[in-house]
Amino acid sequence: MSDTNGTRSLPRIGEPAPDFKVQTTHGEITFSDWQKDSWVILFSHPADFTPVCSTELTEFARRAEDFTKRNTKLIGVSVDSVHSHLAWIQNLEKITGIRLPYPLIADTKGDVAALYGMLHPKENATFTVRALFVIDPKRTVRAIIYYPLSLGRNVDEVVRVIDALQTAEKHAIATPVNWKPGDKVIVPPPKTVKEVDERLALKDEKLDFYLIKRELAKAGK
Ligand code: BEZ
Repeated sequence: MSDTNGTRSLPRIGEPAPDFKVQTTHGEITFSDWQKDSWVILFSHPADFTPVCSTELTEFARRAEDFTKRNTKLIGVSVDSVHSHLAWIQNLEKITGIRLPYPLIADTKGDVAALYGMLHPKENATFTVRALFVIDPKRTVRAIIYYPLSLGRNVDEVVRVIDALQTAEKHAIATPVNWKPGDKVIVPPPKTVKEVDERLALKDEKLDFYLIKRELAKAGK
């Protein structure tokens, strides 16, 4: 897929996540086979043996159960070699006591980074930025988060994004600012006059016809 400049266009929300075959710390994988029927968090870090990355990768590992509970697999990627990844994983376990349960992709040629737009040369010429793709079981990109090298991500937010996407899908609703599980959700705004009338007849919290909040327990009514 190319844009008008002839360069490859990057996957955007709603588009298929590109497939790839790579070496990882768990052996060679083809992404689509490895994913099976799971959600996936595919996230890049700039470089092995760096401080912010060390805090991020160990925190994702410490929270691994929260992702498993949400049928979500984690996979990291950087342009470092398998050998470097293996040495770093051992070092992280030694200094933090945390073992990474998820694979790290050795993207030494930058193929995955190119497919997913993880290299931002004005930020850094060789390292991948902190890119994170949320991919659903149909291999559709559902959310994208990009951070610069100096800024560590928030794992609570990544878990919240999965909760919001899975809840929105299950109940055909949207989620408001700062939403967390248990909070009221948003009834999608009407698209027709008939839908306006239907929404005005609802017993939910109606701020106006386009802004209706609902307790999720009532979502099925
Ligand atoms: C870090 O993870 O601390 C880091 C990585 C690359 C460049 C600068 C900082």
